[in-house]
Amino acid sequence: MNYLSHRPRRLRSSPILRSLVRETRVTPSNLIMPLFIVPGDKVKLEIKSMPGQYNWSIDLAVEKCVELYKAGIRSVLLFAIPDLKDDSGSASWQKDGIIQRVIPLIKKAVPEMFIVTDLCFCEYTSHGHCGVMRDGKLDNDATLEGIVKQTLSHAQHGADMIAPSGMIDGCVGAMRHVLDENGFHELPIMGYSAKMASAFYGPFREASQCAPQVGDRKSYQMDGANRREALREVQLDIEQGADIVMVKPASLFLDIIREVKDNFLVPVAAYNVSGEYAMVKAAGANGWIDERKIMLETLTSIKRAGADIIITYFAEDFARAYAESGGEL
Ligand code: PBG
Repeated sequence: MNYLSHRPRRLRSSPILRSLVRETRVTPSNLIMPLFIVPGDKVKLEIKSMPGQYNWSIDLAVEKCVELYKAGIRSVLLFAIPDLKDDSGSASWQKDGIIQRVIPLIKKAVPEMFIVTDLCFCEYTSHGHCGVMRDGKLDNDATLEGIVKQTLSHAQHGADMIAPSGMIDGCVGAMRHVLDENGFHELPIMGYSAKMASAFYGPFREASQCAPQVGDRKSYQMDGANRREALREVQLDIEQGADIVMVKPASLFLDIIREVKDNFLVPVAAYNVSGEYAMVKAAGANGWIDERKIMLETLTSIKRAGADIIITYFAEDFARAYAESGGEL
């Protein structure tokens, strides 16, 4: 005689049944692919700590967008790494800047591609900090002036959405104001709202040559130990007009993603950052883990935690695996 009244295993007995009851599915339409763009022509330079990711010159970035679109990726997040850096990061708002030139060219080649621009200063400043420095400290309000110029420039050159990543107080409000004043009422802002000061950005800083020359980012990026502060940052960004809020890094902050999802009514994005990517790639290359399965588990967990959007360097790999599997990964 068998007295078991519950047998959850019944629903796991076949692939079709497991698929019928699966609660969370990642699809390529959830994903945004970051791209790093550098000056020059025909440049495709692999980023050592991020195998499969490159610094692209504008011409090849455009070609890459065509390929990505064919693979099923509908959105990219653009970072520019200019040759000339200065104290204020003025290369970020020049008419002939990298972002300003690349957006129209991508739009011409792939009109449907949704282009998000990262808005920050660390790639553009000689000191590598995310704003204007005064007496060794980041001057928040002086930085806002540059943010306004960069925002307007991205909008005027065709960005579909702007994502400020500097963790500067009042940034989203200043952006919303200048966008509305100039007729860009419909342009959404995706705030990097709860962005932690994290060593997981290490490979990104190699890719974009934006490590701070002196000090670190702890006076503006958040302490990852703080849950309530993360919610406060999210709340402030929403109050200032953020249309989407982001938690970053993603897989170490699944609890924060869930809390943001449960406490606020705007879509939630999560950034699966460079260090998360690098670790999976390195272990995969060594044959220590199954890279494809780990990618899928990671992205599924981030989505299950509550992310509607995942920004990930795996976007292309995922889209190709998804297509090969007929959408049943
Ligand atoms: C710029 C910026 C960074 C990342 C996104 N935007 C670097 C940083 O804050 O140091 C990190 C992305 C990644 O690691 O993949 N402020």
